[in-house]
Amino acid sequence: MTQTYLMIKPEAVRASVWPDILQIVLRNRFRVRRLEMRRMSRDVAQRFYAEHEGKGFFSDLIEYITSGDVIAVRLEAEDAVPRLRQLVGATNPAQATPGTIRAMYGTSLQENAVHASDSDASAERELGIIFPG
Ligand code: CMP
Repeated sequence: MTQTYLMIKPEAVRASVWPDILQIVLRNRFRVRRLEMRRMSRDVAQRFYAEHEGKGFFSDLIEYITSGDVIAVRLEAEDAVPRLRQLVGATNPAQATPGTIRAMYGTSLQENAVHASDSDASAERELGIIFPG
């Protein structure tokens, strides 16, 4: 079993589609190990997205991700990272395979419904920031 981090983003929380997203994940044999609805602080958001610092979209990304509550989820499954990424689809909802979470619930590159860790190392880093201790 391996772990990964899923974050349901503010627009999906505001639109009340987060239960639908969680249901898709649960139906695909992931187990929820920890779940919390919360608003990220700017400090946590900047550390979480540190790899994008300096990019043109960074400040918009921080504004957006701190604009409302997110749902932070620690997930466990066999091959958790690649299987969740497959379920989530491409970063840009317009390019995501039909049936994937971003294709169904994302509305733009920024408002793409969810974030999912892209490697085991990222999952460990992200879970450590969001759920320390
Ligand atoms: P996420 O997987 O959360 O990782 C970083 C986020 O930045 C990404 O999803 C997008 O929502 C957002 N983003 C905005 N503009 C871009 C861009 N040009 N390239 C990649 N990600 C972008």
